[in-house]
Amino acid sequence: MKIFALLGLLPILHAETSPILTSEVDTSSHCGQWDTVTAGNYELILDQWGASGATSGTDCAQITSLNGDTIAWKTTSSWAGGTGVKSFTNIQLNEGINKQLSAISKMPAVWDWSISSTNIVADVAFDLFTSNSAGGSNVNEIMIWLANFNAGPISSQYGSNGQPVPAASNINLGGHTWNLYSGSNGANNVFSFLPTSGTITSFNADIFPFFQYLIQHEESAVTSSQYLVTAQAGTEATSGNATLITSSYSRSIRQYHEDTLIATPLGISSQGMLESKQPQLNLRAYLKSSSAFGIPFRDPWGFQETFHEWVSGALPQCFRGPA
Ligand SMILES: *[C@@H]1O[C@H](CO)[C@@H](O)[C@H](O)[C@H]1NC(C)=O
Repeated sequence: MKIFALLGLLPILHAETSPILTSEVDTSSHCGQWDTVTAGNYELILDQWGASGATSGTDCAQITSLNGDTIAWKTTSSWAGGTGVKSFTNIQLNEGINKQLSAISKMPAVWDWSISSTNIVADVAFDLFTSNSAGGSNVNEIMIWLANFNAGPISSQYGSNGQPVPAASNINLGGHTWNLYSGSNGANNVFSFLPTSGTITSFNADIFPFFQYLIQHEESAVTSSQYLVTAQAGTEATSGNATLITSSYSRSIRQYHEDTLIATPLGISSQGMLESKQPQLNLRAYLKSSSAFGIPFRDPWGFQETFHEWVSGALPQCFRGPA
């Protein structure tokens, strides 16, 4: 019974496929309010949801190259009038989403970008949403801002100087230091991580620790049982003229079992241990109880204790736990 439950979590081996190349994708410029261009695992989305708030303006975007998981793209927006966001032109990841946070081991992300002008009101940010079910309605929005050009995060608290007050300060994640702001956009909780200083034009880190931080510190809102339903990255443009050039962007969502229990028949040893039937892999871990089967997949905070002892062999990422 329990073994069946576990085998259900075993991964399907990804077939080796040749990377999709630039020549196979649409690299033309698009300017329509809701235009989209699919390219491999990604989708360029011209989400000009606030365009009606502008007195004038346009926003155009195009993919400039794609090689396997690495995409390059650019967007030029020139918006005038209004105080709200006009467009969120972004690259969405369509592969690996709708996974429960407890099943995710890491989300490696690389983003190298530049912008032609900072005399704008805009941000450059990762934007992610969680829901209570796969494909369900948004519950939490998690933003990781790499740049804040005269804009500001949603915040439930403002100081007497009119500036948003962080919910938490000086958080070290992904090789940078952040302040966390929280508030509501009217529909969802919004958690925004902003760099404590400067602009991050070259980001290369796992972004799952941002979720782990929220699961730990904002547990009334963000829980590991929620699903990651949207993973985007782009620029929220309110006003001004600028071209954002992304020279290199990649993003993926890895699950625990993708890193470890790869195509290996598993069983329970006479000592009550989970073990691989392929001796060369020698994946064996103590199980505290039969209910521990679910732990590495459902509780990113508990399993490090449970699976701390290995008989031998390399420790797969799956059971190492959060760094
Ligand atoms: C922004 O671009 C528009 C359209 O090209 C132009 O009319 C406008 O003068 C520009 N604004 C600034 C501040 O450069």
